Amino acid sequence: MKITALLPLVAAVAALPAQSDIATRASISKVDGLKFNIDGVTKYYAGTNSYWIPFLTNDNDVDVIMGHLATSGHKILRVWGFNDVKSVPGSGTVYFQAFSGSSATINTGANGLQRLDAVVKAGEKHGIKLIINFVNNWTDYGGMAAYFSACGVSSNEQWYAAARCQTLYQNYVKAVISRYRTSNAVFAWELANEPRCKGCATSVLTTWIRKTSDYIRSLDKDHMITVGDEGFGLAGDGSYPYQFSEGLDWAANLALPSISFGTFHLYPDSWGVNNTWGNGWIQAHAKVCAQLKKPCLFEEYGVPQAAQHCSVESEWQKTSLGLKDSGMAADLFWQLGDTIKSTGQQTHNDGNTIYYGTSDWKCLVEDHVKRIG
Ligand SMILES: *[C@@H]1O[C@H](CO)[C@@H](O)[C@H](O)[C@H]1NC(C)=O
Ligand SMILES: *[C@@H]1O[C@H](CO)[C@@H](O)[C@H](O)[C@H]1NC(C)=O
Repeated sequence: MKITALLPLVAAVAALPAQSDIATRASISKVDGLKFNIDGVTKYYAGTNSYWIPFLTNDNDVDVIMGHLATSGHKILRVWGFNDVKSVPGSGTVYFQAFSGSSATINTGANGLQRLDAVVKAGEKHGIKLIINFVNNWTDYGGMAAYFSACGVSSNEQWYAAARCQTLYQNYVKAVISRYRTSNAVFAWELANEPRCKGCATSVLTTWIRKTSDYIRSLDKDHMITVGDEGFGLAGDGSYPYQFSEGLDWAANLALPSISFGTFHLYPDSWGVNNTWGNGWIQAHAKVCAQLKKPCLFEEYGVPQAAQHCSVESEWQKTSLGLKDSGMAADLFWQLGDTIKSTGQQTHNDGNTIYYGTSDWKCLVEDHVKRIG
């Protein structure tokens, strides 16, 4: 090689960061009409939920489970990006944020956000895209209630509008986003798991969703943003889930400028409706998504009776997939089950769990992925 060739070569090397930045941006999952584009491919997608995977303490266990998802054809995994505690637990116990007096400490240690780092890293390796959620409405893994004494409120209803609670929450959101701001393993940032504001004017949640999503957009102009709600509050048959009594106006929230797509869940057993009713629930959301020109993600669904997992949930999957050109973009069942390699133990069985390698897995993952094509 002639020595003169070195000069252009040096210039090319210096240009690399900009190039890779562009490459990263191009490979970030995005909205494409009423569908999602993942790694350049626009189509209907399947996936699942694993609240527990960021709490595993062995990186290889995470890697093996993510590998199972990838080889099965799953693309999207929703995880808890929070683990809030009211006091620092014993050494080794995983937690992400601890409250003390009126302040919060974010745990970036080996038993803290480094656990989430392992999930993001495995996502990058296996092409699995993550929905990362920032806080729970429920008290599992802390939730809004873990913030209460630090920010001087006593209910979720107060939490949404209390300035001090929101400062603490936004600090946490910023800490997580800054870790994975450029990762193409992030599918979307998610405001909360199943936010509700019982008996509140729907403007309380709409205002909170607007402020939070605009804040996230100010930190990250590339990744998608969504709410993580159950889908309550829209025109329908008047049964409990369609009502506005949990403080949600689904269409108003989806219409907000920084919200990229809509989420809804389906648990007939807990909602006093039957399983067949679920098909209409999917159609009702798809219709609003089509009207507002944003994709719908059927984000959680489950039936607790093991014998009905395949029969009931595959019908919902078919209904959702059948609407792939009219609002439905993806579905994620609740929840992923697998065997933890290092311990040989099964992950949490909450009755809804679909374990890797079982006949339910064939039905709800492999057959579904084949139908999607
Ligand atoms: C979740 O939100 C609803 C409505 O605010 C509330 O009734 C319920 O108690 C909340 N869950 C927890 C654990 O606070
Ligand atoms: C399910 O509920 C709907 C009302 O929401 C009713 O029309 C339908 O007959 C019910 N189906 C079954 C199988 O019970």
